Amino acid sequence: MALTDNFGRSIHDLRISITDRCNYKCVYCRTGNSGAAYAELPFKDYLRMARILVGLGITKLRLTGGEPLLRKGIIEFIRDLSKLRTLGGQKPEIALTTNGHLLAEIAQPLKDAGLDRVTISMDAVDAERFARITRVPNGYESVLAGVRASSKAGLDPVKINCVLLRGFNEDQIVNFGKFSREENVVVRFIEFMPLEEDRVWTPEIVVTLDEILLRMAEFMPLEEIPHERSETARRYRFADGVGEIGIIAPVSHPFCGHCSRIRITSDGKLRTCLFSVWDHDLHELMRRGANDQKLEEFILNVVQKKEERHHIGEPGFIPASRTMVHIGG
Ligand code: GTP
Ligand code: 5AD
Repeated sequence: MALTDNFGRSIHDLRISITDRCNYKCVYCRTGNSGAAYAELPFKDYLRMARILVGLGITKLRLTGGEPLLRKGIIEFIRDLSKLRTLGGQKPEIALTTNGHLLAEIAQPLKDAGLDRVTISMDAVDAERFARITRVPNGYESVLAGVRASSKAGLDPVKINCVLLRGFNEDQIVNFGKFSREENVVVRFIEFMPLEEDRVWTPEIVVTLDEILLRMAEFMPLEEIPHERSETARRYRFADGVGEIGIIAPVSHPFCGHCSRIRITSDGKLRTCLFSVWDHDLHELMRRGANDQKLEEFILNVVQKKEERHHIGEPGFIPASRTMVHIGG
C-alpha cells in the first residue's frame, strides 16, 4: 500500500540531499560567507533509506544539495539506486537538481548509470548577470555546456529552474522564453520563497505567476498544458508549439493540497515540508542499530505528521528550521 499522510495525500516523491556544500553563492540563497553546516552521510546510508522508502511506496527519487555534483561517488550511487524496484516492480524514476557547473563532463556517465532527468538552476541567460547572481566568475559558459550535454545525453526533458527577484532579474523573462525555444528545454520560473540565509524576503520582491504570464504573452501567446495534480509547476506552451515554460507559484498559488513530497537532508533527517520547523532523525535511529522494520515504523509515523500547508506571507509566519541550501530545494 502506498504511503499516505493524514490529509489523504499520497507521498511518492523522495528528495535526498547528499551535501549542503555548494560551489555557488547565489545572492537570494546564501550569505556569501558560510560553508557547510551539516554532516554528509556515506552513500550506503542514503541507499538504505531510499530502499526502505521505495519499499513503502516512493516511485520518484530526486538528488539535491547544496550542489550534489560536488560529491564523489554519485555515479555509483545512482547505479545502486537504479537497481531498486518500486511496489509496482519498476525502476524508480531518478532525477537530479544541480547548478550545472560541473555537469558537462558527467552528463553521459550519469545517464548511463540510470539517471532519467536533470533540472538545472539558472537565474539569468546573460553571462555578466549570471556572475552577479552566483557570485562566481565565468560560470555561465560551463552551465550552458552542462545544459547542452544533458540534452545530448537524453536526460530529458531538461528543465531549467529560474528564481525571479523584482528589480534584479525579472527583465530576463522573455530571454528565458527564447532560451526555452532555442535550446529545447523547459524553463520553470519559481516564485521566491522565504528560505534564504539572509532573510531578505518580502512579498514585494516576489515576481508572481500572473506577472510572468503577462510579460511572456507580450512576447508570444501561451496555451496552458494540463499538469499532474502533484506537479509543482503549471505548464504552458507557446502558441506555435515550440518551447515550454512552467511556473512554480508557491506564494501566489500554493499547491500544498496536492503535495507528494518528503525529504531527507544530507545529515539524514526526514523533513515533511520545506517549511517544517523541526525534522526527524532517521539517521540517528539507524546509527543505534534499528532494523528495517523499526525504520519503516518511524517513517510511517513521521509521514502522519506532515504539515497541511505552509504559511508564507501570513502574520505569525515561523521561518523553517533550515534554509534552502541545507534542505535541498
Ligand atoms: P519535477 O517537477 O519532477 O521535474 O521535479 P523538480 O524538482 O524539477 O521540480 P519540483 O517541482 O520538485 O521542484 C522545483 C522547485 O519547486 C523546488 O526547487 C522548490 O523551489 C519548489 N518546490 C518543490 N517542492 C516544493 C514544496 O513541497 N513546497 C514548496 N512551497 N515549494 C516546492
Ligand atoms: N525560493 C525559491 N526557490 C529557491 N531556490 C533556492 N532558494 C530559493 C528560494 N528562496 C531554488 C534554486 C534551485 C532550487 C533547488 O530551488 O534556485 O533551482
